[in-house]
Amino acid sequence: MICTDNAKGFGVAVREACRHLRASIPLILGMLLLTHAATASARDDITYRQCSPEGRLCFVVTTVETMATYRVERDGKMVIAPSQLGFMLRGAGKWERSMRLGEPVRRSNDETWEQPWGESRLVTDHHNEMSVPIIEQRKARRAINLVVRVFDSGVGFRFEFPDHPQLRDVMIDEELTEFVIAGDAEAWWIPGGEWNRYEYIYSHTPAREVGTAHSPITFRRTDGLHIAIHEAALADYAGFWLQRIDGQRFRTRLAPSSQPWKVRGDAPFHTPWRVILIAEDAPALYAASDIILNLNEPNKLGDVSWVRPHKYIGIWWAMHLDQWSWNDGPKHGGTTENALRYIDFAAEHGFGSVLIEGWNVGWWSESGRNFKFAEAVPGHDMDRVSAYAKAKGIEIMGHHETAGNAGLYERQLEAAYDYYERQGVRSVKTGYVADAGGVLREDPDGTERWEWHDGQYMARHHVRIAQAAAEHRIAINAHEPIKDTGMRRTYPNLLTREGARGMEYQAWGEPPNPASHEPTLLFTRMLSGPFDLTPGIVSLEGRDGRAIPSTLARQLADYVVIYSPLQMAADLPENYLKQPDAFEFIKRVPVDWEQTRVLEGRIGEYAIVARQRRGGNDWWIGGVTNSKRREVAIDLAFIDPGARYTAEIWRDGPGGGIEGDRFAMVRETREVTSASKLSVMMEAGGGFAISLRPVE
Ligand code: NOJ
Ligand code: CA
Repeated sequence: MICTDNAKGFGVAVREACRHLRASIPLILGMLLLTHAATASARDDITYRQCSPEGRLCFVVTTVETMATYRVERDGKMVIAPSQLGFMLRGAGKWERSMRLGEPVRRSNDETWEQPWGESRLVTDHHNEMSVPIIEQRKARRAINLVVRVFDSGVGFRFEFPDHPQLRDVMIDEELTEFVIAGDAEAWWIPGGEWNRYEYIYSHTPAREVGTAHSPITFRRTDGLHIAIHEAALADYAGFWLQRIDGQRFRTRLAPSSQPWKVRGDAPFHTPWRVILIAEDAPALYAASDIILNLNEPNKLGDVSWVRPHKYIGIWWAMHLDQWSWNDGPKHGGTTENALRYIDFAAEHGFGSVLIEGWNVGWWSESGRNFKFAEAVPGHDMDRVSAYAKAKGIEIMGHHETAGNAGLYERQLEAAYDYYERQGVRSVKTGYVADAGGVLREDPDGTERWEWHDGQYMARHHVRIAQAAAEHRIAINAHEPIKDTGMRRTYPNLLTREGARGMEYQAWGEPPNPASHEPTLLFTRMLSGPFDLTPGIVSLEGRDGRAIPSTLARQLADYVVIYSPLQMAADLPENYLKQPDAFEFIKRVPVDWEQTRVLEGRIGEYAIVARQRRGGNDWWIGGVTNSKRREVAIDLAFIDPGARYTAEIWRDGPGGGIEGDRFAMVRETREVTSASKLSVMMEAGGGFAISLRPVE
């Protein structure tokens, strides 16, 4: 037996157990002859290691007390301490102990692919892969493959259930994947399994005080290393929550289903990728999140030139202010008259579409039982509105609120999308307002069943919506969605989604989103993908005149910091006319990017993000701070060194900040080069936005 260890070695099987084995060689040799040992044997300690292309990050899989166990190392030091793997399978018992590792199969990949739209046009996928059979040493000998991809800034692994007589029609009661964070860490997290889905303010606690958390969850160790755990390609499985078992040991807890089991699959099938992003600091963590896209399958929709990132306005904020209502009646917002007025405003100011909420029948019925997705209320003449929009070169963004009745929506899907296609609608905002666990569907015999927003039924539902919408060349903006796991790569019509506390909480939320919200989101929720924050409330005023804890410049910063290929100018049209400087920025800022760089940032404290317009030479920079006033000196080394640029700056003015004059904003112009350091002051709860245009 040869004991080797090559930290950088791709294709090298490592038997670390050698160290222990040398002490008892005669016994071990005897045991190795027992190839079908029914219980623990020396072979249990076989270890395979797969390192990243650069070699610093390694995934190590072995067996410990006959349980399949992995760890992740960086520069030879533990990042994820030994963590167990397993499943509870209905009718087939636990798949957890008496495991032996089979021979791995390895391959590597180094490619750069182009996104149809995104935070960056090009994405590099450079990883080494190892697929290791984990074989049960009991009678059933159920073998599941652990497939691991190791990148330089993170790992992804998933379980592949092969076509095996004992694994057909698999019912998973629980997945027992652990993540043990090595080294003391603090965590930023929202609770998993609570009624308000993903719409919580982030908690910042020691990792040892996390309860049950949604992913992505982000950790920072005392040595500064950043670790985020999430999943990729959640297409036909239940989403996981991370439950802290003890210390810094977390285990997957799958979102429940209406059935006794949580996931049902016909082998061969596989789990989503379990993803661990690892980076030296917060900006590098954000950059590492490309791994999530890389772990998704390439575009399945073919030509998606019809998917168009753009900015939109909508019949929306007035409802959240309680000035208008969604339903028909004296305060009805989605009237023909209002729609025509919003279309005029969009056309005059260069927006791509107008969202119209509350145009259809069924608002607001218990569990959405009365929604009709292809029928307008009497006060809304959709034919007239869509013809008017077409004549003005504006699209309507459709709206399908389901109140969580995903079953009813699925039954009307074809009619709903066919109707919208005929009206020229090219994007639809969907909504699933219901408590977590309150998604309704029906069996063919009419039996009602209740599902979770992140259970397997809804994972399938969101794929089904993407496919149905694509057939009608329609893109999706899902609210109260399932978490983003990078499925936009496979279905590029999944343009954006909510799945976090958005601007609506500034209208009526108790409490509203704090100043630390965006600097936290960037390094937590935003690792997963775009967020329809619905920024741009330049009136800084919520329901009943309540003051929004933000400065005017901060509302602009959000357009750059929080990525969404559909960005809303969410305020009332009349409010934009009162703030021409701010409105000018909102009209000009792009939504589709050539490349993105997070220049600086600390979770929950501040962030500075630079993005280059897709296909252009201009850069846009956004900065946000928590409730602390801070000055930053932005190093412009990333812009074209041969050019001079005009920097146009929208920043908090003197005396500004959330405790001062929130409207104080300075708009100024400076000339800069790549050698410049731009000093900008952010007042408490404020921020800034900058456009950098090459001088002609
Ligand atoms: C909640 C969504 O987040 C919001 O944008 C929408 O207006 C309401 N649901 C009604 O659908
Ligand atoms: Ca919402």
